[in-house]
Amino acid sequence: MKRTHTCGELTEKNIKEEVVLAGWCHARRDHGGVIFVDLRDRYGITQIVFEPKFKEIFKIAEHLRREDLISIKGKVRKRPKGLENPKLKTGKIEVLVNNLEVLNKSETPPIEVDDRVVLNEDIRLKYRYLDLRRPIMQKNLIFRHNIVQAVREFLNKEGFLEIETPLLIRHTPEGARDYVVPSRIHPGKFYSLPQSPQLYKQLLMIAGLDKYYQIARCLRDEDLRADRQPEFTQIDLEMSFVDEEDIIKLNEKFLQHIFKAVLKKNLKIPFPKISYKESMERYGTDKPDTRFGLELINVTDIVKKSDFLVFNKAELVKCICLEKELSRNEIDSWINWAIKNGAKGLAWMKVTDKGLESSIVKYFDKKIQTELLKKTNAKKGSILFFVADEPKIVNEVLSKLRVELAKKYGLIKEGFNFIWITDFPMFEYSEEEKRLVALHHPFTMPKEQDIKLLDKNPEKVRAKAYDIILNGVELGGGSIRIHKQDIQEKVFKALGIDKKEAEKKFGFLLEALKYGAPPHGGIAYGLDRLLAILTGNDSIREVIAFPKNKAAQSLVDGAPSEIEEKQLKELGLKLDLPKK
Ligand code: AMO
Ligand code: AMP
Repeated sequence: MKRTHTCGELTEKNIKEEVVLAGWCHARRDHGGVIFVDLRDRYGITQIVFEPKFKEIFKIAEHLRREDLISIKGKVRKRPKGLENPKLKTGKIEVLVNNLEVLNKSETPPIEVDDRVVLNEDIRLKYRYLDLRRPIMQKNLIFRHNIVQAVREFLNKEGFLEIETPLLIRHTPEGARDYVVPSRIHPGKFYSLPQSPQLYKQLLMIAGLDKYYQIARCLRDEDLRADRQPEFTQIDLEMSFVDEEDIIKLNEKFLQHIFKAVLKKNLKIPFPKISYKESMERYGTDKPDTRFGLELINVTDIVKKSDFLVFNKAELVKCICLEKELSRNEIDSWINWAIKNGAKGLAWMKVTDKGLESSIVKYFDKKIQTELLKKTNAKKGSILFFVADEPKIVNEVLSKLRVELAKKYGLIKEGFNFIWITDFPMFEYSEEEKRLVALHHPFTMPKEQDIKLLDKNPEKVRAKAYDIILNGVELGGGSIRIHKQDIQEKVFKALGIDKKEAEKKFGFLLEALKYGAPPHGGIAYGLDRLLAILTGNDSIREVIAFPKNKAAQSLVDGAPSEIEEKQLKELGLKLDLPKK
């Protein structure tokens, strides 16, 4: 029996037709001598009915169990009045079965193939092929497919070429550790797996290909979080003869197209754009969620004049104004929250009829209080939360507090809020490495007017780099690249990478820059992150067919695993494992 229709297809139009369906038994119900089975495939669910008059198949149907795979022949009929299911496309009909073939019995599945059941994630990942049978997971993968098609559709039309770049490469510095692969043919030598196609896409521009894209797999050995995977996918693109503005404009059109094509949503462009500096000042982070206000207000200069020691000694004091009357208990729980998140304390002042109120108000004279009220624009019934500390801590704590307050008090307006962050610093100081490191990557072009600062004042240099943020998540980032060897060498020098090391690590790029490299730049989006936001999932694992778990393991096949002694020998490797 070959199927004539899928399980998501039959409607009243098919009534009286003889059809053949194949699918998994999703649920079985015995109703006084009649058996109903929900037959499921990728396309949907169709109710099929077994009546005792078909004696032989009825007997088999009595023993059908969840996830048994069957094929049936039968006649489509209207469901009796009141028994329709308006939630299903097939909800007005059912199929009266007259022939049944059990294609494959299933053992009792270790997880329920049911969207309503909350399952342990590691078990889901181990039996991912069953987990992926769940309609919601199939929906996510179909959605992923549709987004990727929309990406291709737009970029193809804009004249981009889809080009694959290699997986076994030398090293790309995106700031994480490389996964490495030992070479059998060259014992003692290793390939790196790409953290991104960065250097290859630059070589493609040097090769004159002008516009490139790739749905690129990237591999990074880094600590995992809900929005990070060791293997993830970028929508990666690069263009020649462009500046920042060209790339930003094209990408706004690009995102607009995707939202229109897949979500039928009209995105308003251009998106807002703020500098890194402004973002840090107003939100305390370079990934601001702009669906709500609660901006950080710098009150250092005002409170410096107070008698409150904590404030007048601090390098930076910022506050958030929440328009809500909080109880003492609520305030205390936020104080505890702030301390748990790295603050030394969380000072507060309530705005009442009589002005500011709190145990610390006595340290602030009337004039300072008036200035505070003016600067924060705080209305009666609001509360001000202050953090005083070095800038890093103030911004970290208050940017998080901002989001937590918004979540807790329902201030987040649903929607898709994009914002570009521009003018990033070229370098940041790494406490770990005790030197400057590239904030984006070392191939990013400094702003023209800042190039002269590279030698003496590198921490002042701004980069031609931009990130695109969606609802507080870094969706993508890119930059204009250095296309001149002398600037590239200066940047390496600022990073403390000497000529020899630069030659060793990126000699091939420096060499390529000698032969008429065009100005170029690009961007890469985290496809998994985009999908997670669009499907309303907190974790990108929900939109990846076979993700790693939080411990970077692939539970479905048990990777990573030991390899055989023989293989190690072939590779010239000996294990020297730390003692447990
Ligand atoms: P970047 O390192 O910022 O830039 O990466 C671009 C985007 O990729 C996503 N992303 C991740 N998603 C899931 N898991 C991860 N571990 C992970 N790491 C990054 C983020 C991020 O914004 N070559 C440059 C791009 C360029 O300059 O063109 C690059 O890779 O959404
Ligand atoms: P203390 O003088 O330590 O009792 O603190 C008085 C108030 O200031 C308390 O409410 C503390 O939570 C708060 N506080 C202490 N240190 C800081 C800080 N670094 N930033 C903001 N508030 C603080």
